[in-house]
Amino acid sequence: MTLYSRVRPLAFKLPPERAHTLGKQALRGVQATYPTRALVSYAYQYDHPALEVDLFGTTFPNPVGVAAGFDKNAEVTHALEALGFGFVEIGTVTPYSQTGNDRPRLFRLREDRAMVNRMGFNGHGMDRVKSRLERDGVPGFPLGVNVGKMNTSTEGEAIEDYRRVFDRLSPFADYVVVNVSCPNTPEKFDESSPDHLRAIFETLEEENDTGRPILVKIGPDSPEESILDLVDIVTEFDVDGIVATNTTTERDGLESPNREEWGGLSGEPLADRSTALVRTLAEYTDGELPIVGVGGVDSAERAYEKIRAGASLVQLYTGFVYEGPSTAKQINRGLVDLLERDGFSSVEDAVGADLE
Ligand SMILES: Cc1cc2nc3c(=O)[nH]c(=O)nc-3n(C[C@H](O)[C@H](O)[C@H](O)COP(=O)(O)O)c2cc1C
Repeated sequence: MTLYSRVRPLAFKLPPERAHTLGKQALRGVQATYPTRALVSYAYQYDHPALEVDLFGTTFPNPVGVAAGFDKNAEVTHALEALGFGFVEIGTVTPYSQTGNDRPRLFRLREDRAMVNRMGFNGHGMDRVKSRLERDGVPGFPLGVNVGKMNTSTEGEAIEDYRRVFDRLSPFADYVVVNVSCPNTPEKFDESSPDHLRAIFETLEEENDTGRPILVKIGPDSPEESILDLVDIVTEFDVDGIVATNTTTERDGLESPNREEWGGLSGEPLADRSTALVRTLAEYTDGELPIVGVGGVDSAERAYEKIRAGASLVQLYTGFVYEGPSTAKQINRGLVDLLERDGFSSVEDAVGADLE
């Protein structure tokens, strides 16, 4: 029995956002001093050469990252590194601070190992995030920065929002993600329309003097046709990869009463859908475009499915809430066993193994 399996019932008695805040406070405690970071690294990091992934001009020590939304404001990146993750994606960062939607806005669906959130891009804004990254330094593992627009922005203003956040934070980033797939922010215009996407990538291309890798994060709910149209645009602009997927508004087959809450569903019920989309994307691009697979990863098996379907890296949020601090270690250890079982010499070797 792990310590977290004893703590979790207590944590789950608290409202989810309160539990998240307390968890972050604990991580801030870990991050605060060198000895605490070292102790946690000693307990939770699991290194193995087969886990290393070379991508986006950098080396990921392992393929298991923390998805956007967990550390929106770059407050605990060093603690997440100590916990054995291979990278973190901070954000979504917007130009200015926003309070997001009214509370409650985060719900557990315990019976379904899932969550529903309608946070609505709450965050400190790019300047505070930048100061924090300057003060704390970037972590020792790759850092992704997920950029977004203000909830009040019109279509034209949104382009300027992406440009400004990119300009301010890309110097710290190993890769930047344009988030056009949040299902719980006000829908003022069609964020995934081809014209809008072209305008975003054109603008960022001009802004990107240093050649930072730029990715786009997509949702699982659009029809396949429009997803593949998006991939065509991505290819047109030499976008470096796709993060698939964001949360879903679907509610099929859920048991928990909280399925009635509006917002984006994450966790176990999303796993197969997002893996199927990873596979579709990998097949459509002949495995040429790097894919970051996210949605319902909570075990080595779930991570491995996404890798074999074509994901070069995976990320998780909900799995971390359910599995606790040893999540990355458990998954990475299990991945090494699965690779050995199937005769792969590395994660990179297994990427796309299930494709035709
Ligand atoms: C509380 C919460 C907040 C999130 N905030 C963001 C966000 O700001 N930007 C974003 O791109 N994704 C956000 N996500 C989506 C996650 O990054 C991820 O795509 C999704 O939760 C599926 O992964 P999971 O099943 O491992 O949680 C959020 C998810 C949750 C649960």
